Amino acid sequence: MATYEEIFENNKQWVASMTKGDPDFFEKLARDQSPDYLYIGCSDSRVPANEIMGLEPGEVFVHRNVANLVNNTDLNVMSVINYAVRHLHVKHIIVCGHYNCGGVKAAMTPKDMGLLNPWLRNIRDVYRLHHEELLAIENEHERYDRLVELNVREQATNIIKTAAVQKSYVHNGYPVVHGWVFDLHTGILKDLNINFTKILKDIQEIYDLTTLPSEYDEEKS
Ligand code: CO
Repeated sequence: MATYEEIFENNKQWVASMTKGDPDFFEKLARDQSPDYLYIGCSDSRVPANEIMGLEPGEVFVHRNVANLVNNTDLNVMSVINYAVRHLHVKHIIVCGHYNCGGVKAAMTPKDMGLLNPWLRNIRDVYRLHHEELLAIENEHERYDRLVELNVREQATNIIKTAAVQKSYVHNGYPVVHGWVFDLHTGILKDLNINFTKILKDIQEIYDLTTLPSEYDEEKS
C-alpha cells in the first residue's frame, strides 16, 4: 500500500511516462474532451474504470457510486448522464457491476443499515422485481451473483428511461446502453449482452419521453 507521500512521487513518474512518447500529451489533454464512452460503475476500489478497459485519460467519462445505481432522483448521476449525452455526445453508456459487490451483499441482508437504507432500497427493489427467479436459485453465492447481474440490467433500463437517451437515440442513433459485470477473481469483463433496442421499445410503451415538449425543443424552434 502506498503511503500518502508516495502518491505524489507516483504522480511524477506517471507524468514522465505519459510524456515520454508524446511531450505534448498534457497540452493536448487540456484542450478538450470528447470521450465515446460513459461508464457508470461501483465505487469499489478494486474496480478501476480506465484500467479494466485499457483506456487512456480523455477516453471515458466516469461516474461511480455504491453498487452502480441509477436513481432518477439522484441529481448527481442524472447530471452526469445528461451532460454525457447532450454535450459530450457519447456513443456508448456502460453500467458495470461486479461480483462480490458489498452494496449488493448488504442489500441481500435483511437488517437496518441506517443511512444506507434508502440507497440499498434500490437494490432491494430489484430483488423484489425478480423475487421468483432469485428464490429458485438454491446456492446463496449463485443467487448473489445473479442479483449483481439483474441489478446491472435494471440500472441500464433506468438509463434508457431518461429523456436525454431516448431523444438522442431517436435523432442520432446513439448512445447504445450496455450492461457489464467485472469478475474480481479473473479480471475478466463480461458483457451481459442486454438487448438495448428491445428494452427501449418495451419501456417506451410507458416511458416515452421523445414526443413531449421540452425546453430543448422550444430552443430549436
Ligand atoms: Co460494489
